[in-house]
Amino acid sequence: MTKLIIEVLNKKTCNLTPIWLMRQAGRYLPEYREVRNKTESFLDLCYNPKLASEVTLQPLRRFDLDAAIIFADILLIPDSLGLKVNFVQGQGPLLDSEYLKSNLLKLKLKDDKLNKIYETITIVKKSLPKNIALIGFAGSPWTVAAYMIEGKSSKKFINAKQWLDDEKRLSILFDTLIASTVTYLKNQIEAGAEIIQLFDSWAGILDDDQFKKWSIEPTRKIVAELKSRYPNIPIIGFPRDVTVHNALLYTKKTGVDCISVDYNIKVNEMKNIQKTIPVQGNLHPDILIEGGTKMIDSSLEIMENMDNGSHIFNLGHGILPQTPIQNVIDLIDIVKNYKK
Ligand code: CP3
Repeated sequence: MTKLIIEVLNKKTCNLTPIWLMRQAGRYLPEYREVRNKTESFLDLCYNPKLASEVTLQPLRRFDLDAAIIFADILLIPDSLGLKVNFVQGQGPLLDSEYLKSNLLKLKLKDDKLNKIYETITIVKKSLPKNIALIGFAGSPWTVAAYMIEGKSSKKFINAKQWLDDEKRLSILFDTLIASTVTYLKNQIEAGAEIIQLFDSWAGILDDDQFKKWSIEPTRKIVAELKSRYPNIPIIGFPRDVTVHNALLYTKKTGVDCISVDYNIKVNEMKNIQKTIPVQGNLHPDILIEGGTKMIDSSLEIMENMDNGSHIFNLGHGILPQTPIQNVIDLIDIVKNYKK
C-alpha cells in the first residue's frame, strides 16, 4: 500500500496533502496523561517500549493522520553520552553540563537505553496501519550541543554561544554528536523507521556564518552518511526560526529531501522554497488552540498557496498542551477535504 507522505517526499505525482503534527503524542491528550502518570519520569516513559509504543499510537486512533512519530526525545543522546538528563516538572530538562566539561574527550555513546527506543519502533511498526508512515528522529548537533553546554532550557543559550568562539573545543563535541546521531538514526531505520526528521530548534540563534558551519555542515554530513547506506529513506530537516535566505541555503546544501518551516516564514516564502524541495509546515500552534474562523482562514491560506504534491501540512512548531482536541479534528478535516 502506498503511503501518501512518502509519495510526496519522493516527489511522486499526487494531488493530496498529507498531514501530521509535531508533538502529536502529548499532554493535550487525556489518554497520554494517563499513561504518563504510570511512570515516575518522562524519561522512564521514553525507555519503556510497551508504554512508549502505546503513546506513539494514541493520536492515530483519534485522528486521520498520515504519519506516526516515535515517542522519544532529542535529549536521549546526551543521556546516553553520560550527562544524566532529568526532566523536572515545570522546569524542563536538566543536564549535567559539568560532566561534559570534564569528559569532553571521553564521551562515548552507551547503547543499553537506546536499545529500548529501537524496541519501541519495532513494536509500533507491527501494529501501524498500512497507509501510515513511521517517522524516526534526532536533534541536530547544534541544538543538542546547546542543551548539553547550557545544562537546561534557555532563551538565549549564552554559555552555548560562548563555545562558538572556541571552534576547536566545539568541533570535538560536534564530531561525537555527528557520529552518535548517525549510529542512533541507522539503528532506528534498521528497526523500522521509514522517514527521518532532524530537529534544529535553536538554529535561529546562530548568525549567518555560524549557521553554515554549525547547522548546515553537520546536517550535510549526517544526511550524506545516512544516504550512503539508506538512499531511499527520506530525511526532513527543521531549522527553526531562521531567515528565508538561510532556509533556502539549507535546502540547497544539506541534501535533505524536505524542509520543515516554522510560522515566521510567510506563505509566499514557503511557496518560493517549494520550487527547490517539498516543504512541511507551518500553522502557528497558537492558532490551533484558538480554532474557529482564524484557524479555518489560516489553514486555507496555506492550502491555497502551496502546490499539492510537494507540501506536507504540519504546525510551525510543536502542538501545545492547552490545544482543544476538537480543533485538531477540524484542522485535519480542512486539509483532507480541501479541493483545489
Ligand atoms: O512529536 C512527538 O509527538 C514525538 C515526541 C517528541 C518529544 N520531544 C516528546 C516530548 C519529539 C519529536 C520531541 C523533540 C524535542 N525535544 C525537541 C525538538 C522540537 C522542539 O520542540 O523544538 C526539543 C527541543 C526537545 C527537548 C525537550 N523535551 C524539552 C525542552 C522539553 C520540556 C518542555 C515541554 O514541552 O515539556 C521536553 C519534554 C517533552 N518531550 C515532552 C514530550 C511529550 C513533555 C513531557 C511530559 O509529558 O511532561
